[in-house]
Amino acid sequence: MGLPAASSTNCAVVTGASSGIGLALARELASRGYALILVARRADLLEKIAAEITAAHGVTVEIRPTDLSDRDQRGKLVDELFDRDIAVLCNNAGIATFGALATLDPAAERAEVELNAVALHDLTLAVLPGMLERRAGGILMSGSAAGNMPIPNNATYAATKAFVNSFCESLRHELLDTGVHITLLAPGPVRGETPDAEAKSFVDKAIPDFLWVTTEYTARVSIDALDENKMRIVPGVLSKAMSVAGGYSPRAMVAPIVGKFYERLAN
Ligand SMILES: NC(=O)c1ccc[n+]([C@@H]2O[C@H](COP(=O)([O-])OP(=O)(O)OC[C@H]3O[C@@H](n4cnc5c(N)ncnc54)[C@H](OP(=O)(O)O)[C@@H]3O)[C@@H](O)[C@H]2O)c1
Repeated sequence: MGLPAASSTNCAVVTGASSGIGLALARELASRGYALILVARRADLLEKIAAEITAAHGVTVEIRPTDLSDRDQRGKLVDELFDRDIAVLCNNAGIATFGALATLDPAAERAEVELNAVALHDLTLAVLPGMLERRAGGILMSGSAAGNMPIPNNATYAATKAFVNSFCESLRHELLDTGVHITLLAPGPVRGETPDAEAKSFVDKAIPDFLWVTTEYTARVSIDALDENKMRIVPGVLSKAMSVAGGYSPRAMVAPIVGKFYERLAN
């Protein structure tokens, strides 16, 4: 059995829907007929995106401007979702910080943990009882290839993504035969348009253009994978290589090599 069909009573929720992979997931789900609830902080951007998606696909789009790292704001969304018929949840919002942990702003690091790990956990707990009762639904979690290995100078991010990867794949085995699908999206480098040479960041320059995958491709294969209830989707050659390297290389060997690369991202 696939994902629940889009209906007049159910909808799909996408967090981090104002840009990147989340925006592409929202468009992909709308193209498959799902009404949407879009979550991110920038209300003005969400309003524009909602209008654009409704015009393109004729679906209802609600917006919930929310700082998911804020427990009070998040709590309101959690309460609402508990009572709604959620066909699909894309737990996608996430941020990364770079640099030696002791040099970073402690409040920002804590907010990163709240967003990348605690919010994803809370939202899963909000939608899961209803999905289990209906014996239908799908949860896509945006983890990362970064969650498979130790990454000095990106410690909070790598640890939160290790949480996402492990949480998703652990929960999966509790959900077998329940009708609820759960899939881990564990990408390496993903971006929208290829930037012009002068607009390229350090990472854009370090990774050749042909190794990047697009947000649109990532969204399409991720929703296909969720529909088929695959365990993990790793889009692109580099992501797959990072997954294998992270999973099978000795961690003591990987850490200094990766840490050197990430040190450059802090500047
Ligand atoms: N792109 C990649 O190469 C890559 C690779 C591996 C994993 N991932 C993971 O995939 C996910 C999406 O990545 P992306 O590159 O598409 O990200 P992105 O373009 O930077 O977008 C991040 C999204 O999260 C929202 N967000 C940030 N802080 C938030 C907060 N406190 N509360 C609510 N929403 C918040 C942002 O919207 P507002 O600013 O409007 O709040 C935005 O919509 C992340 O979890 C990321 O870790 C990405």
